[in-house]
Amino acid sequence: MHECSCSEGNIYDFICEVVSSEALTNKMTWLTVKCPELARRARPGNCVMVFPSLGLDPILGRPFAVADVDPEKGELSVCYALVGRGTKMLDEAKRGDKLRVRGLFGTHLPVGEKKIHLASGGVGVAIFLLYNKIYRDKVAGFYLGVPGKGYERCAEKISALAPNAKIFCDDGAFGAGDSMFKILPKELGENEEIWTCGPLGFFKAAQRHFAAQPEKLFFSLENRMACGYGGCMGCVVETANGLKRVCVDQSLFRSDEVSLDD
Ligand SMILES: Cc1cc2nc3c(=O)[nH]c(=O)nc-3n(C[C@H](O)[C@H](O)[C@H](O)COP(=O)(O)OP(=O)(O)OC[C@H]3O[C@@H](n4cnc5c(N)ncnc54)[C@H](O)[C@@H]3O)c2cc1C
Ligand code: FES
Repeated sequence: MHECSCSEGNIYDFICEVVSSEALTNKMTWLTVKCPELARRARPGNCVMVFPSLGLDPILGRPFAVADVDPEKGELSVCYALVGRGTKMLDEAKRGDKLRVRGLFGTHLPVGEKKIHLASGGVGVAIFLLYNKIYRDKVAGFYLGVPGKGYERCAEKISALAPNAKIFCDDGAFGAGDSMFKILPKELGENEEIWTCGPLGFFKAAQRHFAAQPEKLFFSLENRMACGYGGCMGCVVETANGLKRVCVDQSLFRSDEVSLDD
């Protein structure tokens, strides 16, 4: 059973200086901003909304997982995929520019007795990096799948932050093989769980792989968010236990609790 602790209701806007914006691939960027308060308060599972401009266009911020923090330097990082207009605008930000960052959102990832296998596809890795850094003794394995060629810098960055990471490439260009599902045990011990985050196809592959133990497999969902604090019902997901808001009700969803079909 996963208990949730949302981000204490303290959500504020901060105008933050960009420390760095680093292209990890031509579709993925690592952005670090100076924001001492959020860097101090952020816990694994938290998200921030980053506004692509200081003006009113676009009105909504873009939600991203807090991928790393350095409380001593007062820095917070997100890792984002270039998807549409907002992330493309964001990608123009350079060192010294100012960005509006709102936070903190989201529920913390639970910390219990169980050992966790953290498995992600692509930019889904962002949500698990801080957990892996802070609670390494709880992590049984850290697995990331990426397309391959063109992802070398991404792999270097993730390996530097998560030295325990095993990286798999669809095209086998580098790393530990072409699929984490060849390595991941099909059955997990009583005291183990697997948490996953990634694109729909990745969740489905994980579901097939752990078909014998759906109760051990959990999804970190990234439904569309508008308010981020539970007010708009924009992120609601249908579960076996009723409708749940992804932003405040739960950080992880059991694989047999939600349907992956639209
Ligand atoms: C809790 C949460 C955490 C996330 N963490 C990350 C992360 O760490 N890294 C990352 O790359 N992406 C993450 N996403 C997805 C990311 O927010 C979207 O890819 C991004 O908002 C797309 O913005 P856009 O303007 O480029 O795309 P557009 O498609 O042009 O966006 C149009 C609108 O849809 C919203 N939107 C579009 N796609 C999504 C989506 N998948 N989820 C939520 N809103 C969306 C945007 O906020 C915007 O209002 C997360 C989403 C959620 C809900
Ligand atoms: S984003 Fe508004 S309720 Fe979750």
